[in-house]
Amino acid sequence: MVGDMTYANQYRSTGGKGVPCFSCSFPDAPIRESYQPRWDGWGRFMEPITSKIPLMVIEGNHEIEPQGHGGEVTFASYLARFAVPSEESGSYTKFYYSFNAGGIHFIMLGAYVDYNRTGAQYSWLEKDLQRVDRRVTPWVVAAWHPPWYNSYSSHYQEFECMRQEMEDLLYRHRVDIVFSGHVHAYERMNRVFNYILDPCGPVYITIGDGGNIEKIDIDHADDPGKCPSPGDNHPEFGGVCHQNFTSGPAKGKFCWDRQPEWSAYRESSFGHGILEVVNSTYALWTWHRNQDTYGENSVGDQIYIVRQPDKCLLQTTSASSLNCPAGRCPSAMSISGAHRAVISGQLFWKVLAIMCVVLICTVEAHAYQHS
Ligand SMILES: [Fe+2]
Repeated sequence: MVGDMTYANQYRSTGGKGVPCFSCSFPDAPIRESYQPRWDGWGRFMEPITSKIPLMVIEGNHEIEPQGHGGEVTFASYLARFAVPSEESGSYTKFYYSFNAGGIHFIMLGAYVDYNRTGAQYSWLEKDLQRVDRRVTPWVVAAWHPPWYNSYSSHYQEFECMRQEMEDLLYRHRVDIVFSGHVHAYERMNRVFNYILDPCGPVYITIGDGGNIEKIDIDHADDPGKCPSPGDNHPEFGGVCHQNFTSGPAKGKFCWDRQPEWSAYRESSFGHGILEVVNSTYALWTWHRNQDTYGENSVGDQIYIVRQPDKCLLQTTSASSLNCPAGRCPSAMSISGAHRAVISGQLFWKVLAIMCVVLICTVEAHAYQHS
């Protein structure tokens, strides 16, 4: 679960309904709230799930909850209410950590603490990636709150600084999938590295569609008149690194004039996803709209994600030269092709990992109130 769990930081002042821009609607509010009964209620609401399915969390911007006269106390609720394997993974902080489950090495990164190459998190991440034994956990899945690749107007290019610091490291160590939230909608990317299609890049998935009190995001940055100005979407932590594209159809521009080629599928519906690891090279990702049933043909988006460890070798040096030529970079394999390959192949190892990326944001306010 990648952050923004309860909105306890702006629940009371907004009457439980939320506002698109808190600082716009409440310009005189000195600091955000930290309304603990909201956290308590969320815990009770989640209990039917969390009592049966292990839940791992990472902080989002709504967990910052600055308290004190100068807002110097932050993340107090997040740090007090959750237990995560930080010591076991050698990070010794709940702001970033890792763990293994079902043939996957999960890496949870903190976007609201130092992510620069000279910082402790980057150093830990480098060591953690080097320790991964792909014979034990062939898959490496990373997760953090704000997406790097995002074609919605909301939070567009907001965490470019983090991407520029860390993307190369994740790419060289062949991270397979990245889950993020923050944007209140669904979007799946084609394999990409540095905004160029790349068969060895991770599959980025934004699944910030679990519900929230601020409504769903519907505008795309490539819609007419919807491209944010470069001064918009400042992050609540870190610097601003907005930039124009340097290649491709949007060269020299801040926004595309069509759905970017690195954006494979996007939809503004509340939903959830299930990742099923079939073997060391195939995993099935399925996204469901919440209003759909689990019947035949009820999936919103589905794709086999295919690892190619023989072609995408671990890299310890700069990988910029590995970008494939334009027009020659395949996206993830199609369902039909991958399905045939799975059926005809030798399934030497099989595991089903159901990942609870279902509630990236908090539940809808009305659902909470009716619980
Ligand atoms: Fe967020």
